[in-house]
Order: sequence, then C-alpha cells, then structure tokens
Amino acid sequence: MGSKARLAKDLSPLINTMIKENQIKTYIEPFVGGANMIQHIICDTKIGSDNNEYLVHMWNAVKGGWIPPEEISKELYNEIKQNKDNFEKELVAVVGFCSTYNAKWFGGYAGKVDTKIGTVRDYYDEAVRNILKQVDQLKDVEFLNADYTHFSDYKNALIYCDPPYQGTTQYGTSNDFHYERFWDWVREMSYNNIVLVSEYNAPDDFEVIFEKTLTTTLDKNSRKKDTEKLFRYR
Ligand SMILES: C[S@@+](CC[C@H](N)C(=O)[O-])C[C@H]1O[C@@H](n2cnc3c(N)ncnc32)[C@H](O)[C@@H]1O
Repeated sequence: MGSKARLAKDLSPLINTMIKENQIKTYIEPFVGGANMIQHIICDTKIGSDNNEYLVHMWNAVKGGWIPPEEISKELYNEIKQNKDNFEKELVAVVGFCSTYNAKWFGGYAGKVDTKIGTVRDYYDEAVRNILKQVDQLKDVEFLNADYTHFSDYKNALIYCDPPYQGTTQYGTSNDFHYERFWDWVREMSYNNIVLVSEYNAPDDFEVIFEKTLTTTLDKNSRKKDTEKLFRYR
C-alpha cells in the first residue's frame, strides 16, 4: 500500500538509530510484504519474512534477475487466480499483487484505465516497475517464507512488525489473523529483543513511540485518514 512506502521514509531513520545505538546485528521483519521498510534499514543481517509463499518466491526471483511479463490480460489474471498451482509462484505473486488495485491480493483485475485528463494509467506496469526499482536495495535481505512465530528463539535482534491491520481489507492470505496471540508473542519477544509494531491501536500495556497521520487508499473509490502509530511494550 502506498502509505506504507511514505511512512517508511519517516520510520526508517528512527529504526536505524535504534539499531546503531543498541549495537543490534540482526534486523527481522516477520511481515515483510512489499518490502518497503526493509530496503531502508541498515544492519549486518536483515531477514524479511512473510507467510505468503508466493510473495517470498517473487522477491527471491526478482533478486535472481527474473523480469515479470510486460502485460497481464484479464483472461490470464482469471486463469491464474483460479488455478494457482499450475503457474510459477513468482508469476502468481506479481499477478496477485500488481494486476490489482493497491496491492490487494487478487482484489479485482486492474488493467489499463483512461484517466480524466486523457492519459492512460497502467496499474500493473506501475507496480512492476516499483518492484524492480526496489531490487537493488534488497540484495542484502534474506527472504524467508514463515509464520512470524518462526522467530521465537531470537535474541538481541530488532524486530519490526507490520501485521495485517485489524478491521480493514487485507492483502495476503491473512484474513484470519489472531491478534491476541500476536500481542502475546510481542510481549514475550520484548524481553530479549527490541520489538516495534506498526498499528493503529494496541493493548494498554503498549506505548506509542512515534505517530503520523496519512491518507490511505482502500480501493478505487474510498480513501481515509488514519494515524499510523509505532508501538513498543512498556
Ligand atoms: C501490512 S502487510 C505488510 C506490509 C509491508 N510492511 C510493506 O511495507 O509492504 C502484512 C503482511 O503480513 C503477512 N502475514 C499475515 N499473517 C502472517 C503471519 N501469521 N505470519 C507471517 N506473515 C503474515 C501478509 O502476507 C502480508 O504480506
């Protein structure tokens, strides 16, 4: 989502300062998604993980030089949406995220659109270009396909969490995200790591260490203003 890329510019300096001041050697992002944050992070070891296996295949493929197709027709979009197992996972990922509005996972085909000012907007092409632009900054990232709980044994790391927002349309396959379990995990991990969470709200035993109001585009017809917050366990 666009707002995340904008927020990353404000948040990453803060995270980089924490990494430096605390001599952190490992940065972990268990909900790496579009990798908009991790590309700005400076740390010896950087791990970007996500439970969407298609997405992780895509990052590894583009890092290895794979170039996504130039165009995706509506027919191919529907074919891939219905028969994901018949296609390469990286192709499923670019179609699922890029041929659709605002990176909402298979959230409806978004092809070329005539704009009010007479130009043509190609959503797929824009999204693919953005991904390819990121690649150079992701060379030092190790991408993993795992659930966030995979990192439970880590110590002395900085863990930045950007879980699916509670109560909004989601991308990924994450509609059944269990929030209470997640916050418990954050509490537990905070004893031996610096754990930061991007969310709009958190339980009372978490404090806000940064906030910023941004306009979020939810789909082609609706926008909303929200205050993004960065939380830490007290
Ligand atoms: C809000 S998005 C992350 C956005 C990302 N920070 C960015 O800048 O694009 C949430 C991500 O969490 C992933 N996810 C959902 N449930 C998960 C889980 N249990 N473990 C790991 N990743 C999960 C989704 O696949 C999705 O990519």
